[in-house]
Amino acid sequence: MIKLTWYSHACLMLETKSAKILVDPFITGNPLSPIDPERLKADYIFVSHGHADHLGDTESIARNCSSTVIANPEISGWLQSKGIEKIQHIQIGGAVKFPWGKAKMTYATHSSSLPDGSYGGNPGGFIFYVGDKKIYHACDTGLFGDMTLIGEEGIDIAFLPIGDAYTMGIEDSVKAVNFIKPDKVVPIHYGTFELISQNPEDWGEQIKKETDSEPVILRPGDSIKL
Ligand code: NI
Ligand code: MN
Repeated sequence: MIKLTWYSHACLMLETKSAKILVDPFITGNPLSPIDPERLKADYIFVSHGHADHLGDTESIARNCSSTVIANPEISGWLQSKGIEKIQHIQIGGAVKFPWGKAKMTYATHSSSLPDGSYGGNPGGFIFYVGDKKIYHACDTGLFGDMTLIGEEGIDIAFLPIGDAYTMGIEDSVKAVNFIKPDKVVPIHYGTFELISQNPEDWGEQIKKETDSEPVILRPGDSIKL
C-alpha cells in the first residue's frame, strides 16, 4: 500500500511502509499550503527543478530531517554549497534504486533557474515505482508527444499540471491524459496564484468525457491510497 498526500501546487508526499518521500516541498509562501514546514518530515526529497515554487523548503526540511535530496547535479551542487550532505544525482532518462523502490527522472519542457539566478540544470518530472504501482508526477511541463512513452510504462496514477501560463492548461492536460492513459489522474499546479486559477470541476468533466481515466480532485492535504 502506498499513501499519496497532495499539499497543493506540485508538493506531493508518498508514504510507503518504510519511507516518507516528498516531492517539490513549496510550503513557506504558498497560500494554499495546509501544513507548517516544521511538521513535514521526509526521508527523501525529490526536486524537479530550481524554481522557488518547487525547491521551496527543501533546504530546511533536509537539514531538520537529515533527508536525502535527489535532484539534477546543478541543484544538488547548489544544495551542497548550503551544507546539505545527503545528495543523490539524477538526470532525465536515468533511474535510481532505493530500499523502497525505484525512481526515474522524465523529460519536462520548462526552464530551471535557482533562487539566486544561477543555472538550475534541466527541469524534469518523476516516475516512482513502488511495489507493483507506478506513479507519474509531471511537475512543471508543457504538453509533449513523448508522454506516450511514459504511458507505455503502465501508469496507475498521474499528477498533471493544469494551471496554464507556466505549464499545460486544461485542454493540453486532457491531451496528455490520452497520451499517458493512467488509471487515475490528479490535477496540480493550479489555484496557488491568480495567474494559474482554474476550475478543477470543469477539468474533471472534460477528463470524464474525453478520456478513459478517472479524474481525482484532491483538496490541499487530502490523501489517496493505492
Ligand atoms: Ni517552474
Ligand atoms: Mn512551478
